[in-house]
Amino acid sequence: MKALVRNNDKIKLTEREIPRILHPRDAIVKVTLSSICTSDLHILDGFVPFANENIILGHEFTGEIVEIGDAITALKPGDRVSANCETFCGECYFCKHGFVNNCEHGGWMLGCKIDGCHAEYVRVPFADCGLTKLPDNVSYENALFVGDILSSGYFGAEMCEIKEGDCIAVIGAGPVGLCTMICAKTFNAGKIFAIDINESRLKLAKDLGLADYIFNPEKCDIEKEIKSLTSNRGADCVVEAAGAGSTTFNTAWQIARPNAIVGIVAMYEENQVLPLPRMYGKNLTFKTGGVDAVHCKKLVEMISKGIINTDFLITHTFDFGNVVEAYDFFRHNKNKCLKVGLKMSE
Ligand SMILES: NC(=O)c1ccc[n+]([C@@H]2O[C@H](COP(=O)([O-])OP(=O)(O)OC[C@H]3O[C@@H](n4cnc5c(N)ncnc54)[C@H](O)[C@@H]3O)[C@@H](O)[C@H]2O)c1
Ligand SMILES: [Zn+2]
Ligand SMILES: [Zn+2]
Repeated sequence: MKALVRNNDKIKLTEREIPRILHPRDAIVKVTLSSICTSDLHILDGFVPFANENIILGHEFTGEIVEIGDAITALKPGDRVSANCETFCGECYFCKHGFVNNCEHGGWMLGCKIDGCHAEYVRVPFADCGLTKLPDNVSYENALFVGDILSSGYFGAEMCEIKEGDCIAVIGAGPVGLCTMICAKTFNAGKIFAIDINESRLKLAKDLGLADYIFNPEKCDIEKEIKSLTSNRGADCVVEAAGAGSTTFNTAWQIARPNAIVGIVAMYEENQVLPLPRMYGKNLTFKTGGVDAVHCKKLVEMISKGIINTDFLITHTFDFGNVVEAYDFFRHNKNKCLKVGLKMSE
């Protein structure tokens, strides 16, 4: 089969053996549609030290099950599924508490430690936990982001413990930030503020009704603007989904009101400094994390019912044969490209 393999910072479309079932809880999925995640670029840029060399990249995909291990009962060949970006057993201490990102037998495996989805077929371990069956009215496009960026957006909104009417500031109107705004609405957030330096992404957030107010911090005093809209308090919750080093890290706590929750969803490439003396008395709660993607079923249901929709994120589509070009395009065209869809030819 065709597969995109990484070595150091190089990617190459090459031939690989079709994966086989290795464990009774495995499934083999024929990939129909996949996407490239900013985290794939983080691997190529050397910022994911635990990533293995010579593996097939990719962890965001939908497809059709072609084979299942003996222990899989709730799924069968022919089922259309979306995949979770995380591999988790569902049985260990962390899984039982919903902290699947830290599963003792999993974590971020696909496309990082083991072969991922940028290939014609992929072996999914613990497939009963890692795959979500799609109802007939949910297409592969509709469900492409369920297991990664939509889950991350939900995770960001959930970690802020949004109460009805709360004002939420989301830093970064990239795919993850936009998904956070989509999910914040399902928690009955009040005003949503989108903050980005990319005008076209801000405009999209406004035009789609995902944000009530948009701000470019390079063109305004962001703290002042947010205070002016929140009775001089600041945002009730802040989600940092930009990851632009100390700039956005500092913005995150500066625009939060006292006693707010600041949720850091972005994956930083360097350490950040908490200026505790300056923050003293603001009584903030910081939460950070790799997504505990435990709500895939619920997200698919919300898509099926028309409550949420992420189709607009697929701004560009490539045939899988052009995956190397797609990586280059995704990396260099943030102005016009939100996400790419990689289509497997029939
Ligand atoms: N926690 C998780 O499990 C998880 C899952 C998926 C992605 N991520 C991370 O989330 C982050 C966002 O992902 P994405 O795919 O949306 O990335 P992205 O790069 O497409 O979006 C980031 C956005 O931040 C904006 N930005 C950059 N500098 C800024 C600044 N100074 N002020 C305001 N905005 C600024 C960019 O213009 C861009 O629109 C990445 O760091 C990614 O690795 C985390
Ligand atoms: Zn990802
Ligand atoms: Zn586990």
